[in-house]
Amino acid sequence: MKEIPFFCAFEGIDGCGSTTHAKLLKGFLTNLGFKVHLTREPSDSEIGHLLRKFLSDNSIPPTTDALLFAADRDYHYHVEIKKKLEEGYIVISDRYVESSIVYQSLQIPEISVKWVAEINKFVGKPDLTIVLDIDPKISLERKRGEPLEKFEDISFLIKVRQLYLERAKNEGYEIINTNDIIELVQEKIQQIVLKKLESVGVDIQTQKFG
Ligand code: TYD
Repeated sequence: MKEIPFFCAFEGIDGCGSTTHAKLLKGFLTNLGFKVHLTREPSDSEIGHLLRKFLSDNSIPPTTDALLFAADRDYHYHVEIKKKLEEGYIVISDRYVESSIVYQSLQIPEISVKWVAEINKFVGKPDLTIVLDIDPKISLERKRGEPLEKFEDISFLIKVRQLYLERAKNEGYEIINTNDIIELVQEKIQQIVLKKLESVGVDIQTQKFG
């Protein structure tokens, strides 16, 4: 098994399918013989647990959320992601810095993209960021029956989607539409990841049998 430090982040609005696709990608890359570590944000640390609790609490000031998401990420990167990359894992994160930039900067005018980027500047950048794009009407439909969390509101998610797409174009992130059936979407994701791995010098064939 070859050791390839490679960091891939999934982004997108609530209900875009990032959790499903991150898991499927992990399975695909593991079958190819890579060491793969799957993780998520909010993370599984104590700060992450607190953040998940806060997702159903509308009284939390948005600035508190922004600072906690940044703290959670800082801890997550330095204690978990960086270590796994150093051990030669491909790390897949279900959400990362872009979630904070997009969600937190849209909460109140006082929170700017620049400030969110600033408080998140001590963590490593992903080698690949994939934005899963979907109409919020469809994504919220997928959540029917579940209690809604504080960001799961159609007019807010329309703005979130818009900013994700804008930033993806400016920052060179991959955008994948997830209206198609899961298998087709996953196939597109796999192709993008393999192309990116090859572009950084990974020999997929050798990897498969190595
Ligand atoms: P989500 O992926 O929806 O988790 P789950 O499917 O387990 O409920 O993420 C939780 C929410 O947190 C989502 O609404 C986006 C929000 N979020 C932020 O606002 N900022 C962040 O930095 C992160 C990581 C998530």
